[in-house]
Amino acid sequence: MSDEKKILYSGMQATNSLTLGNYLGALKNWVNLNEEFDCFFGVMDLHSLTVRQNPTEFRQNARKLYALYVAAGLDPEVNCVYYQSHVPAHTQLAWILDCFTYMGELNRMTQFKDKSAKHADNINAGLFTYPVLMAADILLYQANVVPVGKDQMQHLEITRDIAERFNNIYGDIFTIPEAYIGKSGARIMSLAEPTKKMSKSDENANATIMLLDDKDTIIRKFKRAVTDSDTEVRYDTEAKPGISNLMDILSAVTGKSLDDIQAEFAGKGYGDFKIAVGEAVADELAPLQAEYERLLKDKAYIEGCIKQNDEKAAYFANKTLRKVMKKVGLTEMIR
Ligand code: TRP
Repeated sequence: MSDEKKILYSGMQATNSLTLGNYLGALKNWVNLNEEFDCFFGVMDLHSLTVRQNPTEFRQNARKLYALYVAAGLDPEVNCVYYQSHVPAHTQLAWILDCFTYMGELNRMTQFKDKSAKHADNINAGLFTYPVLMAADILLYQANVVPVGKDQMQHLEITRDIAERFNNIYGDIFTIPEAYIGKSGARIMSLAEPTKKMSKSDENANATIMLLDDKDTIIRKFKRAVTDSDTEVRYDTEAKPGISNLMDILSAVTGKSLDDIQAEFAGKGYGDFKIAVGEAVADELAPLQAEYERLLKDKAYIEGCIKQNDEKAAYFANKTLRKVMKKVGLTEMIR
């Protein structure tokens, strides 16, 4: 890690399989960030525990997410790609920050309200303090920037509030993180209801492209994508949300501009257009999927990467944690 580069931190929960939306909206855009930043990407397995998990599947999903990060191009020699739960400093700092966070602040979190409604039978304290653990993730590494989607903006705001509150009492301990607004990731919508975000929990399997779907499945789902009764491939998110979403996807995958796409498909029907989008997506994902399969089999390599990066993450995290412990007056351990 160099001194001049700013620090970037992000991660995803280790719960389910990723969708094309997670990929085009986040992961794909993380791949070249290491040119500008020193990057940390966590497999956020502790956050996943706020919802009841099947232990075996959960462990597998965490490993699969790690392999997907690497297969997508996050080079583990360059980026610090590690497991959140392997660095105890996360939970240690989270506890301390809990004591600097108000119930009222956490009560206002819209994600807490949504998740409580969704999991009414398991509104646990972890769900409530979820944003504090996320603050600890970010602040431990003194991150300058955090690429986050709209749905995590409020959590980044509370992270900044907690950090500022702490700094006001104890001096400049934490870097105040900002949202990273780079080349903005595409916001991918459901193929069945294109005014809704694409989501892995959608009940309609045709609404969502999974990152590991095979080519036939991908093309079949695109063929069924909901569009409109018009025939023109034109970008208009209000009047033509379905076609606009497909154009966003094609643009994100091929790098072509929306204007070029409109010109290319002028006078061609929706049928051809949908197949073209499906093929472009399948072609983009094929090498990633092949690399993913290869990596999952190469246990020694993956485990070596995890070990090395867990240690690297712990080194940086513990530096901050030691400072914090000292500042709040906890007694140093005698070595
Ligand atoms: N809460 C984030 C999500 O669900 C995942 C996450 C946990 C995260 N800790 C983070 C993202 C720190 C960015 C930075 O998407």
